Amino acid sequence: MIHYTGTPKIETDRLILRKFEINDAQSVFDHWLSDERVTDNRINAAHKSVSETMERVHKIVNQYESEDFCYWAIELKDTGELIGEIDLYDFDSATDNCEVSYSLGYKWWNQGYGTEALRAVVEFGFRTMNIHKITAAHNTDNPASGRIMSKVGMEQEGIIRHMIRNSKNQYKDCAVYGILQEDYMKHQGSSHSVIVTAD
Ligand SMILES: CC(C)(COP(=O)(O)OP(=O)(O)OC[C@H]1O[C@@H](n2cnc3c(N)ncnc32)[C@H](O)[C@@H]1OP(=O)(O)O)[C@@H](O)C(=O)NCCC(=O)NCCS
Repeated sequence: MIHYTGTPKIETDRLILRKFEINDAQSVFDHWLSDERVTDNRINAAHKSVSETMERVHKIVNQYESEDFCYWAIELKDTGELIGEIDLYDFDSATDNCEVSYSLGYKWWNQGYGTEALRAVVEFGFRTMNIHKITAAHNTDNPASGRIMSKVGMEQEGIIRHMIRNSKNQYKDCAVYGILQEDYMKHQGSSHSVIVTAD
């Protein structure tokens, strides 16, 4: 059974994963949701105004009351800058499986932050939440996302043709990845790389 604990604070070497706050909206807009280099790899279009982002952040913040809502802002420890987001979603009580998704602002790509955040959330999902399997999919024209999945031990299970249609009306083939809790535990043993705190 999944053990829901909401969205606790998670600390890694360089990052703090924490709940979003209403006053994060401007950074979310400036750093990734208004930037097509980021949003072209997501389903929804880039935001044109910060009010769209404000609405989205409000929606996120309102859901923190639910224990089964796991949506983190990714903050750099050194500078306090908000650099991205990562969430676990689509929890399925029939299987105890869920999905993961993430985005980082373009300025912070290729510095290992995506891998560090994903590794932390996968560890949290398996060790704290007792998730059975975590899956994700990336557009095949976005190989960096597949790379970070591989780096945390997720395996590619296939390619689904035209799995999504994005805001530019383009169909995208997607590579689907997954990792089982039992395989993760076998490989990671008892080594913990993240600190989870109540809030
Ligand atoms: C996907 C994303 C989160 C990756 O974050 P990141 O912090 O740049 O990731 P990392 O730095 O930890 O790792 C990136 C890896 O991809 C590799 N990479 C980057 N561009 C690549 C490319 N065009 N082809 C192949 N590999 C690529 C990097 O070399 C690195 O691998 P390495 O460590 O073996 O060298 C970030 O690019 C992003 O936010 N993209 C837009 C939104 C998005 O795609 N979300 C996911 C939707 S499924």
